[in-house]
Amino acid sequence: MQRFKNKFALITGGTNGMGYAVAQQFIEEGGSAIITGRSKKTVDRAVENLGEKAFGIVSDAGSMKDLMNLENQVRKYTDTIDLIFANAGYGKFMPIENVGENDFEELFNVLVRGPFFTVQQILPLMKKGSSAIFNTSVATEITMPNFSIYSAAKSAVQSFIKTFATELLERGIRVNGVSPGHIKTNIFNNTGLNKEQIEEAIQNIIPTIPFKRQGEPSEIANTVLFLASEEASYIHGAEIKVDAAISVIR
Ligand SMILES: NC(=O)c1ccc[n+]([C@@H]2O[C@H](COP(=O)([O-])OP(=O)(O)OC[C@H]3O[C@@H](n4cnc5c(N)ncnc54)[C@H](OP(=O)(O)O)[C@@H]3O)[C@@H](O)[C@H]2O)c1
Repeated sequence: MQRFKNKFALITGGTNGMGYAVAQQFIEEGGSAIITGRSKKTVDRAVENLGEKAFGIVSDAGSMKDLMNLENQVRKYTDTIDLIFANAGYGKFMPIENVGENDFEELFNVLVRGPFFTVQQILPLMKKGSSAIFNTSVATEITMPNFSIYSAAKSAVQSFIKTFATELLERGIRVNGVSPGHIKTNIFNNTGLNKEQIEEAIQNIIPTIPFKRQGEPSEIANTVLFLASEEASYIHGAEIKVDAAISVIR
């Protein structure tokens, strides 16, 4: 399928995991993808692997300075963005008592401020028929100990799906979200857990998943690309759960 021939996507956090998978599939289907990440090393490596239709911007989704510079950076490659996948992010496991002001700010900056100002800044490049897709999380539905700030931040993003859908209606920009369950990515590397703790956490999680396996990043990418495509032309203000029903069957 070549659903995105001559189209341009901006994917925040595209050096790894779901963002990378979305970039890869978007390019396979004829498009070009601009990915962001925090370091030149990870961005350059991903762009090299994705090939000549990939472009990279070093931009921290939690930095207001970087967010305000994003439009200029994107305009080096294109004047039109057909898909924004607001995806950059990570969580940190912290008991309530251990959460400091800096932790609170850090997570809300990356997970809430980031997607808000990414879409705001790129709006001038978005025409009728384009899409903004937010990446939320199953953590908004199932409670997890030590994950209060992350879950609250992702709930704020759920709210953007609805409010942006309302406000951008007249411009013909469709706004939707994808809510992943437990997906096999590098997400745990940023949580503050060591290698053994990560492996233990994953082994504890798997039996709780109705399909008894983590999802693949490509399974999220399939959904994001569907939402961005013409096939989803009547879908607006929606959030699709891609979680093997973990939010339903408990
Ligand atoms: N994996 C899961 O089970 C799961 C479930 C629900 C929701 N999510 C959400 O899915 C999104 C993608 O995560 P993932 O699971 O694909 O994890 P991942 O493999 O760790 O990828 C995260 C991506 O975000 C980028 N990133 C992180 N912080 C950033 C920042 N401040 N500015 C710019 N880029 C940043 C990383 O790039 P660099 O390291 O190069 O900066 C990387 O490309 C996140 O929002 C996460 O909260 C994940």
